[in-house]
Amino acid sequence: MTNIPATIRVQPGGALTGRVRVPGDKSISHRAIMLGALAEGITTVTGFLEGEDCLATIAAFRAMGVEIEGPREGLVRIHGVGVHGLMPPREPLDLGNSGTSMRLLCGLLAGQPFDSVLTGDASLRKRPMGRVAEPLRLMGATVETAEGGRPPLAIRGTRMLHGIDYRLPVASAQVKSALLLAGLYAHGYTCVTEPAPTRDHTERMLGGLGYSVERAGPQVCLHGGGHLVAADIEVPADISSAAFFLVGASIAPGSNLLLEHVGMNPTRTGIIHILREMGADISLENEREVGGEPVVDIRVRSSRLHGIHIPPGQVPLAIDEFPALFVAAAAAEGRTVLTGAEELRVKESDRIQVMADGLQALGVAATPTPDGMIIEGGAMGGGEVDSHGDHRIAMAFAMAGLHAGGTITIRNCENVATSFPGFVRIAAAAGLAVTAEGGEGA
Ligand code: S3P
Repeated sequence: MTNIPATIRVQPGGALTGRVRVPGDKSISHRAIMLGALAEGITTVTGFLEGEDCLATIAAFRAMGVEIEGPREGLVRIHGVGVHGLMPPREPLDLGNSGTSMRLLCGLLAGQPFDSVLTGDASLRKRPMGRVAEPLRLMGATVETAEGGRPPLAIRGTRMLHGIDYRLPVASAQVKSALLLAGLYAHGYTCVTEPAPTRDHTERMLGGLGYSVERAGPQVCLHGGGHLVAADIEVPADISSAAFFLVGASIAPGSNLLLEHVGMNPTRTGIIHILREMGADISLENEREVGGEPVVDIRVRSSRLHGIHIPPGQVPLAIDEFPALFVAAAAAEGRTVLTGAEELRVKESDRIQVMADGLQALGVAATPTPDGMIIEGGAMGGGEVDSHGDHRIAMAFAMAGLHAGGTITIRNCENVATSFPGFVRIAAAAGLAVTAEGGEGA
């Protein structure tokens, strides 16, 4: 990862037009490496996200003896070693900024016969890992955390995991996935019940690679001891990256943008429902299914947004999109209220506080609450904001330039490359008056 602090600067005005294909889905790209590594045979992945987070997952599996070719222009070939073929890593696995890598790997490594240590950058080392360590301990794993359940994680090897029937206290696809991955190594059934639907890419991909997963309402179960068979995986464009363009085109008068080949998994579509409820003009074209995941082209035209009470049921389905949605709310007419989203406080940054601070710096009446935000939409000025090294905050404020009355300068943007390499180039080509200084990251 580049450590050069990058600044993004956006001049006011402009519109988004033409066609854009944003990079591959981050969640699916991680899982393709993990499950491809555990499969028997060679898994070929296309559309892979060459972002820093997914590269950290590749590096971790290489360190455990898996041969992985690429990525080159989104193409990766993974020489699977089978469920029991991973080798002990010689050093701690450094997962950079990537919470998904750490939580899913924690589950997967809990069932290995060897010890391992997982660490990451300053942001990742602040994030809660007790939520995976605790249920894994119930399965018989030994996972030690630093103070307060934070990384680094020290995982003791064992062949003695047993399945559990676990009700997730928070809706988290990462915890659900970690337990299912541990469940591959457990005796008997591992069942996870979620309080609200979360992204189901792990379940879908396990099924696609021939592993039987049973789903009944909010519960998903699998039986340990099976095997995975390599298959080709095509990764659609990431709806969480498309989100910035959906908001940008909605708030910039004169916009008419086509976002191509976007993954439309029903556990990820909260952004579409919420923006439509705010009055956005979004149509889905050419709906199809690619490798077990629904895919569409999305047409978005500018419209007059209005504030809403965000439906609580949509929160887990849009959990990564709130930085962008807060910008939409700031540009909308009237008040937007978000509740039930305390999870935002433990993402790559405290996304409630950091977004409220940034919006206030631009003159927006944004009031943070313990579990959400109240935003009075209307005019927005220019100014300087700090993304706190959070990729999605940086990209959200870049789109704010389409509504602002002055130049917006965004500091600490180097981590944009964790999920969206090429963001500045792609956004500029679509019509955003954006430039980057001092780092490839942006
Ligand atoms: C992810 C799940 C979500 C999301 C994260 C990616 C995944 O986190 O915020 O960016 O790939 O499983 P939680 O499951 O913790 O909500």
